[in-house]
Amino acid sequence: MSPAVPAAAQPAPAGRPAPDPHPVPHPSDARTILDRCDELAAVSSTHHGITRVYLSPEHARVNALAAGWMTAAGMTTWQDAAGNQRGRYEAAEPGAPAILLGSHLDTVPDAGRYDGILGVLLAIAVVERLHRAGTRLPVAVEVAAFGDEEGTRFGTALLGSRALAGTWDDAWWQLVDEAGTTLRDAFTAFGLDPAAVGDAAPPRGSVVGYLEAHIEQGPYLLEADRALAVVSSIAGARRFELTMTGVAGHAGGVPFHRRHDALAGASEVVLAVERLARDADCVATVGRLEAFPGGVNVIPGLVEFSLDLRGEHDDRRDEVWAAVREAAAEVGERRGLAFAAHETHSAPAVVASPALRDVVRDGIAATGDTDPMVLFSKAGHDAMAVAELTDWAMLFVRCGNGGISHHPDEIVTLADVAVALDAFEASVRALAERSR
Ligand code: GLV
Ligand code: MN
Ligand code: MN
Repeated sequence: MSPAVPAAAQPAPAGRPAPDPHPVPHPSDARTILDRCDELAAVSSTHHGITRVYLSPEHARVNALAAGWMTAAGMTTWQDAAGNQRGRYEAAEPGAPAILLGSHLDTVPDAGRYDGILGVLLAIAVVERLHRAGTRLPVAVEVAAFGDEEGTRFGTALLGSRALAGTWDDAWWQLVDEAGTTLRDAFTAFGLDPAAVGDAAPPRGSVVGYLEAHIEQGPYLLEADRALAVVSSIAGARRFELTMTGVAGHAGGVPFHRRHDALAGASEVVLAVERLARDADCVATVGRLEAFPGGVNVIPGLVEFSLDLRGEHDDRRDEVWAAVREAAAEVGERRGLAFAAHETHSAPAVVASPALRDVVRDGIAATGDTDPMVLFSKAGHDAMAVAELTDWAMLFVRCGNGGISHHPDEIVTLADVAVALDAFEASVRALAERSR
């Protein structure tokens, strides 16, 4: 007998929200958010699915859409020196420090329509509510729609939020995309001045805290039948480009005892990655693997593959990486292959600021869930980068479809978006009062 699947976990028709079983407190604001998610989903570099990368024509188009919604919400807007779309809703006293809200508008290849995007649109909707009510807070509210969180184009993630946090690394200018374009040239082609990237960072002391709303990208809220959670911390992540080099040869002519098959060796490494990470309570993924020269009758002489490695504790994660390297070296020695690794991304684990975590918890409590769930995030978020600039906290919103994400079937319900907006607005108002 197949196991029972809760109704909420059933797949919805491709790409569209499922009918909503829950009552909706503020349908019109939540509806606007979901309609905007659909509008952004139409901006893709591919005909099927959604793919939108940093400093692309699609990036410029979603920035323009977000700028229009920010303006309608009473904000002044600008595209910052790293291509992030920014907006500011002025405080009662013009020029006061700001609460920063944000998330990202870029995507993984063949993405869903809510990862990052929902957080940006919830942030704009909070400001829209303040504007509609004629409310000016003791602090300003700024929204950042980050241009790169995923790292899809240049391999290094969080480029947008790291620019805002003032932690840009000049070594990144030499990063190249698949077409061989450097990050420096991509900046220029987008109309940005590489020399001015530091201007994306606000002056120290001008930001009182950062709040980010995001879909959970996992099943825990769904399984607990809860709509919202407060995030305790975010896993540290490292990414690598790996190569296994052997000797190409004739698939018929070379007997097994004379082979140096790079793909057979890389396959052993992939399985070691899974075993070692699982044993250490970390997560690791080989998401891309390519064998060369790629002929059906040619023994692979070279394999390029990626590794994404995450853990709640950086030292445990780093021990897994050391063990993977050891396993790969052993495979290489046994099979006569050369293993090499190049790190493309590294971000330490971060813990939410207790005071802001309480603000988000109280925001959720204001919607009726008086003992909100607390979740640790294995997914990375812009908050990891902004943590270098200011205190931070995050609100998680339940995903449907078993919690699937980085997949076109990513889904949220109208009711959950409505309650998330209420909780996020309450959090922003409470943080503003605390910052008075
Ligand atoms: C971002 O979505 C990541 O966690 O890879
Ligand atoms: Mn993502
Ligand atoms: Mn995201």
